[in-house]
Amino acid sequence: MKSVTTNSFRVGDQLELEIEKLTFKGSGLGRTESKVIFVPYSAPLDQLLVEITEAKKNFYTAKIIKIIKPSPQRQDPPCELFYKCGGCNWQHLNYESQINAKELILDEILERQLKFDLKDLKNGILKPFLKNSKPFNYRNRIQVKSLKNHTGFFSKNTHEIIDMEKCLIAEESINLSYQKWKKLKKPDIELTKYQIKIVSNNDIENKLSLSKDNITIEKLNDIKSELIDSKSDQEAKSQSMLLGFSQVNNEQNKNLIDLVLTYYSKFNLPKVLDLYGGPANFSGPLALNYSNQLQAVCVELNFNSYSEGLKLKSEKKLTNLKMINADVESYLKRQLNLDQTFVILDPPREGLSSVTIHQLLNLKPTVIVYISCDPMTWARDVLKLKEHYQMDVVQGLDMFPQTDHFEIFSLWTKIDINLP
Ligand SMILES: C[S@@+](CC[C@H](N)C(=O)[O-])C[C@H]1O[C@@H](n2cnc3c(N)ncnc32)[C@H](O)[C@@H]1O
Repeated sequence: MKSVTTNSFRVGDQLELEIEKLTFKGSGLGRTESKVIFVPYSAPLDQLLVEITEAKKNFYTAKIIKIIKPSPQRQDPPCELFYKCGGCNWQHLNYESQINAKELILDEILERQLKFDLKDLKNGILKPFLKNSKPFNYRNRIQVKSLKNHTGFFSKNTHEIIDMEKCLIAEESINLSYQKWKKLKKPDIELTKYQIKIVSNNDIENKLSLSKDNITIEKLNDIKSELIDSKSDQEAKSQSMLLGFSQVNNEQNKNLIDLVLTYYSKFNLPKVLDLYGGPANFSGPLALNYSNQLQAVCVELNFNSYSEGLKLKSEKKLTNLKMINADVESYLKRQLNLDQTFVILDPPREGLSSVTIHQLLNLKPTVIVYISCDPMTWARDVLKLKEHYQMDVVQGLDMFPQTDHFEIFSLWTKIDINLP
């Protein structure tokens, strides 16, 4: 075994390591003299024996061989499939430390990448991280794979199905329906994918009051494209293009909608532009709540999501909401200016293209709300906004407990305008 001060390690070398903190992408971080080491399934203050699995120019990755002294932040993962399943990566951490780690990751991005003074931000701009009231049973949809007598999730990084009785992060009603359905279903002769989802009929009142309707179990048929590229981001992207996007966590989605409504009311601008708007998740409630005072436009590329938005518009008679099925870049190309406009940006994980940022800066919207599920692309994009806009609000929300993922809500005003 090499000592921790040794300068270089090769794959297969073992060393003792203390974990300093958790990082974006979920691994714990320890240090050697020369490079950092990322260790999946570790916890801050763990003392570990680890084995190098990858030696890169600037960092190593390693796996745990033995926990010499466990961190006080550890817990026994409640799900027996945790280390096999590709879904969650933080069930070995108690919920408080998950939240602390997410807060720290956001703080570091704000300070190091965006060069904000954290002390200043903590005087009111950086709001307390919003926990989920239920660290488990929060997902309103799951996807399961089925082949012959096996039904469940793919095991981590493979296409082997691990049989699953219940998913601890799915809402209880999903698990109950899944169990009944699994008992009755005929074996699939081909690998088949099913989505099990709580359907709220896209009803704004339902969304806002968190009430639930039926469960649907839908057979999906894009399994081939998923097998070609098994990266989970690609998988999520192709699924969202096929099915249309919907937020997975009702409680945190309600919090996001509340934030949008609350901050809109501080400006009361006559125009709202909901870019990457999905089924008008934000512009729908805005159009409903401020029917006499604003005109909203929702721009969404996916036809299914756009159609959901149209359905909402007609059911709620939202004459002040216009749904547009278009690419954001080509929509912005046709605009002359965005003066007196409250723009909402909620792009996919890849964030905004440099063309879109350039277009926005030229069109000069009065207020920009940027919501993101990827702190890195958010930081990259807002660094460019920061030259012309000031950040008035930033808040993390725990949309995805038991994983390293989280959502960011941020509000930016043109440098000459201040929050009342
Ligand atoms: C993170 S989702 C947010 C959806 C919506 N705001 C919500 O809360 O439900 C991102 C959305 O952007 C859409 N999208 C992706 N690329 C786009 C583009 N170039 N132009 C317009 N919409 C796009 C996706 O279809 C998806 O609905």
